[in-house]
Amino acid sequence: MASAANNRFPYAWAKVVTFILCLMPLGVIVWGLGVGDLGPDPGQAITEALGLATFQLLLITLLITPLRKVTGWAGWIRFRRMLGLYAFFYGVLHVLAFLQFILGWTDLWATFTKRPYIIAGAMAFVLMVPLALTSTKRMMKKLGRGWKPLHRLIYCSAVLAWVHFLWQARSDITEMVVYGVLLAGLLGLRAYWFGVSSLVPLKKV
Ligand code: HEM
Repeated sequence: MASAANNRFPYAWAKVVTFILCLMPLGVIVWGLGVGDLGPDPGQAITEALGLATFQLLLITLLITPLRKVTGWAGWIRFRRMLGLYAFFYGVLHVLAFLQFILGWTDLWATFTKRPYIIAGAMAFVLMVPLALTSTKRMMKKLGRGWKPLHRLIYCSAVLAWVHFLWQARSDITEMVVYGVLLAGLLGLRAYWFGVSSLVPLKKV
């Protein structure tokens, strides 16, 4: 029954809609640039908006397994790769915007090791790279049983991204606390359903 419903689901259309929705944060930035509505420091606003989109997409990617578990619909999984790759895409744009608008392209090592919050962000980003590179079906096949433990690095990346988010806050940290509670909830649910070991990266369980 469930698999008949799965087969009838218009995945192709749903994926096109998801693809377009994921482009929305970029669309909002481009629109803001076009109408000159990005405030006194557009470069800073763009960097922040891209960082937030990266973090939000990471959280949405982490939401897929709970959605699957709660609704019992396995079809959610078919959207996970696109969401994860979009998170990476926004992460790349966020780093590029940071270099272009904030600290410049010279002496990159000094730039990335300059402040603790940037080190945390850079670590979160570096952990996203192997995940993006191994997200294809071919790499999944090639890595076999090693794929899942590798992809648990997403939990470390999300936690580091949150530390980075919290650390760069200037005064009001309400938004960061709300996102932190959401992230803790997602990780907590995982630990509750599948055990704490299901959060440990690079270890076959
Ligand atoms: C090399 C990696 C990274 C660098 C250099 C970097 C740099 C920055 C900078 C300069 C800001 C703005 C801080 C300010 O307002 O002064 C920022 C904000 C932010 N970054 Fe990153 N970041 C990096 C990676 C990441 C990653 C991987 C994520 C998410 C997964 C992320 C999420 C955020 C968020 C959510 C904000 C705050 C946006 C807001 O204020 O609304 N960053 N980052």
